[in-house]
Amino acid sequence: MALLPLRSLTDRPVERIEREWLDRIADALAKPDCDRALLCRTVLAELLMPEYAANWETALADAKVPAGTRLALAALDPRNVTLEPEYYADCDDARFQRVKPLLWLWYSFDRSLLGGQAVDLGVRLRRILAGHIFRRCGANFKAFQHVEFSFGYNMDVGDDVVVHRHVLLDDRGGIRLGNKVSISDYANIYSHTHSIVEQKDVTNAVTVLEDGVRITYHATVLAGVHVGQQGMVGAVAVATKDVQPYHVNVGIPAKSVRVKPNAPQANDCLPAARARRREDT
Ligand SMILES: CC(C)(COP(=O)(O)OP(=O)(O)OC[C@H]1O[C@@H](n2cnc3c(N)ncnc32)[C@H](O)[C@@H]1OP(=O)(O)O)[C@@H](O)C(=O)NCCC(=O)NCCS
Repeated sequence: MALLPLRSLTDRPVERIEREWLDRIADALAKPDCDRALLCRTVLAELLMPEYAANWETALADAKVPAGTRLALAALDPRNVTLEPEYYADCDDARFQRVKPLLWLWYSFDRSLLGGQAVDLGVRLRRILAGHIFRRCGANFKAFQHVEFSFGYNMDVGDDVVVHRHVLLDDRGGIRLGNKVSISDYANIYSHTHSIVEQKDVTNAVTVLEDGVRITYHATVLAGVHVGQQGMVGAVAVATKDVQPYHVNVGIPAKSVRVKPNAPQANDCLPAARARRREDT
């Protein structure tokens, strides 16, 4: 293996415009009386249907504008769409309605020409939004495209957390991420589960990923699982039970196959993991 740190890229000519756009959003959200639905609608109209940005209300009411276009216009305003978590009986409506415009802006940006793959702008926008959606959002939060949440308001996130593309963060029962947690592409972190008999019987349980945890590609962590500090869940694994600190768990159901060589000795508790660690050194 080789050490391959991320490269720095040269400035892009549009950076000044990006800063102006992001500052406008950040400044608006910083105001206690910010109308978040209106902000979402205004930002999305400029991005997605600029020809209607100045006359959204009149175009929506104009029967001469095709119905599909009027529906697309309506959908720029989060009050005109429903999101799945709103149907959940345990949704705290007051809290959800407050974050919903920002979730809608986040998801819609990701589907736009400007969003999607555009890494730097996307990371900066999502960092601003996360600060107003999560219960707690630490410094340097970094999310790539197409991340989805359940409520959003039940996320408790430490510093230097990275969430890669297409990750599902189901925070229905609560998700707590420590510092320097990394969640790789297409991973799923759940915090609710259903009875095998009665589908409507839901159990919420906080899922915790402690400091330095890495959940790798396409892995799933089930509700209420606690992954200890520096623990790791291998590609495509399903973590159904707690992962001990510094352990690497793989497979379905995920089991420990080794302890990281930098683990303090006290974590070296599973015989199989101990044997593997001996092979490493
Ligand atoms: C978890 C992971 C890092 C483990 O790597 P490792 O410590 O070098 O482990 P090994 O390759 O020596 O594998 C140990 C055993 O577990 C098995 N194994 C490893 N990863 C597995 C996985 N994802 N699913 C099922 N079995 C796995 C190996 O086949 C091997 O089994 P064996 O002893 O029967 O031959 C790696 O397999 C993985 O999933 N990587 C994902 C990509 C990655 O690196 N992501 C991190 C940054 S995003």
